Amino acid sequence: MEHQNIVVLDFGGQYNQLIARRVRECGVYCEVKPYTTPVDEIRAMNPIGMIFTGGPNSVYDPAAPQADPELFQLGVPVLGICYGCQLLAHNLGGRVIAAAEDTAREYGKTETFFDTSCKLFKGLPETGVSWMSHGDYMEKVPEGFRLYAHSAACPNVAIADEERGFYGVQFHPEVNHTEHGSDMIRNFLYQVCGAKGDWTMGDYKKNAIRQIREKVGGGKVLLALSGGVDSSVAAALLAEAVGKQLTCVFVDHGLMRLNEGDEVEAAFAKWDIQFIRANAGERFLNQLAGVTEPEQKRKIIGEEFIRVFEAEAKKIGQVDYLVQGTIYPDVIESGLGSAAVIKSHHNVGGLPDYVDFKEIIEPLRMLFKDEVRQLGRELGLPEYLVSRQPFPGPGLAIRCLGEVTGDKLDLLRQADFIFRDEIAKAGLEHTMDQYFAVLTNMRSVGVQGDGRTYDYTVVLRSVTTSDFMTADWTRIPYDVLDRVSVRIVNEVPHVNRIAYDITSKPPATVEFE
Ligand code: XMP
Repeated sequence: MEHQNIVVLDFGGQYNQLIARRVRECGVYCEVKPYTTPVDEIRAMNPIGMIFTGGPNSVYDPAAPQADPELFQLGVPVLGICYGCQLLAHNLGGRVIAAAEDTAREYGKTETFFDTSCKLFKGLPETGVSWMSHGDYMEKVPEGFRLYAHSAACPNVAIADEERGFYGVQFHPEVNHTEHGSDMIRNFLYQVCGAKGDWTMGDYKKNAIRQIREKVGGGKVLLALSGGVDSSVAAALLAEAVGKQLTCVFVDHGLMRLNEGDEVEAAFAKWDIQFIRANAGERFLNQLAGVTEPEQKRKIIGEEFIRVFEAEAKKIGQVDYLVQGTIYPDVIESGLGSAAVIKSHHNVGGLPDYVDFKEIIEPLRMLFKDEVRQLGRELGLPEYLVSRQPFPGPGLAIRCLGEVTGDKLDLLRQADFIFRDEIAKAGLEHTMDQYFAVLTNMRSVGVQGDGRTYDYTVVLRSVTTSDFMTADWTRIPYDVLDRVSVRIVNEVPHVNRIAYDITSKPPATVEFE
């Protein structure tokens, strides 16, 4: 192991990824492992500390996930969070019971009082809000443990045996609602586990390049470049590692935003790689002619993408490795390597079935999105690519409602560009997670100059979200919306009306189709 490691042992909590991200944000590497991971495997990882996540169960449920008692014999500090805290207590001789109604059962933001002589709370305020969600209660704490935090309803919100390095908190330090939660995690890492902060993207880059070179040798590598952040960063990493042995096939389906295809191509000009841009816009438009049903559009685009990629790959001949831009959240969501549930994530659906290759390389497999962006910067990719907002595979086709035509796409591209331009000028880019224009199929009557118009309506859409499963519409200031509206109707022909979408998800989705 080239860097220190924290093991996040997953007991089925909903925040396991968040815990791992918080640890990495502190400059310490960590991996999420299922609670069933054999102790020997964990020992072999040589962790400097372990974090037990929360979980939906009560430790006394017959089906509740249990911690192997040997984990406490490894001589490695443990931080138990919520269910993880109760497991700690349960395993080390304490007693956990179901809390009586309205007594020690706590959900939500809770005022908490901390004893800052505990390493976990060192240097932090003595009172603060913490985010609780537990129905069980530690009636008796294990021998050797002391109480280090309490709330009005619960005397043992945090417990620790500082000598052995065992810490348990009933609240969730990883969520933003807990004040100074990240500092508590940082304290665990640096004050308790002796972390050095040796996880940096600069080091990761060097190691990854060395490992890729060792693996690939003189082999040929193929990568399908979509222009999104993940495939672009994977491409840059491979380009840096193996140069000319890499062929990037960039399928330009003609459904990208304004200038985007050229931007992607320009970003890779500095590497001496085989870069193939398949300009397939016309092919896609022909396939989409007359099609109005959203799902059918998506299907056609997905299939056509594979067709074009396959044709290009055939020209290259036999390749040894195919690169995929899988990132860590995909890996975690796939079931953490428990073989039965794992499913492979293909950024470009189904590609491996169509291309002849020996092995898949997934160089971003252990990275979170923020880390992927940071790695992209380390590799010298331009900021416009690295901080790009999410963009759907079917591109503008699902934002051009009804039939997709070249003319409609042109209008949409211009309107979308103006919207993004004004958001950037207002300095609001980082206050929203996804924002774009949609060209509706609706026409309405307007008046421009002296004449009547009968033209399209453009809808502006912007959402604020952390996971895209739910999303809130963004409260963009009226004066910014006004500037966007005035510019679009003045600069984009055949658009005479602008609307702003004020629906959240659910009930709406982020995209229109
Ligand atoms: P919805 O519309 O489902 O979008 O609320 C949620 C997020 O997913 C993106 N999205 C897609 N991404 N291929 C993709 O790669 C797709 O077919 C696709 N459809 C939606 C959408 O842009 C948003 O970020």
